[in-house]
Amino acid sequence: MDYQELIDKAIKASEKSYSPYSKFAVGACVLTTDGNTYCGCNFENSSFGLTICAERNAVGSAIAEGERKIKAIAVYSPNAQYCYPCGACRQVLNEFKSDEGMDVITCGDNGIKVVKLEELLPEGFNL
Ligand code: THU
Repeated sequence: MDYQELIDKAIKASEKSYSPYSKFAVGACVLTTDGNTYCGCNFENSSFGLTICAERNAVGSAIAEGERKIKAIAVYSPNAQYCYPCGACRQVLNEFKSDEGMDVITCGDNGIKVVKLEELLPEGFNL
């Protein structure tokens, strides 16, 4: 799958965002080593700390289908240029990176950018 397709799925997921408090919509789509994709959007709560980010929602969907190895994730927000995963999500992504690592893809007015998760989370915590 090419990364534009993965971004397109993240864009579609962002349209489902439930973000009445921040009004900041996010969509994410992960690509597993089995070649499957799983999407998620952020969903907020009136008790703000219960908010779930789009990336963790997408990872949860993959895990619920028995997948464990994610080779790429696309993240998109209509409210920001080049939306990258927050720190907490970077650590969650670290848990499920494939043996070849994970590409993090985001897009903005100047096209797609791809970085390795390791660049966004050097020395991520592992047990
Ligand atoms: N958000 C995400 O979905 N992913 C991120 O990586 C950063 C933040 C959401 C959480 C909240 O609903 C809104 O964006 C503003 O923080």
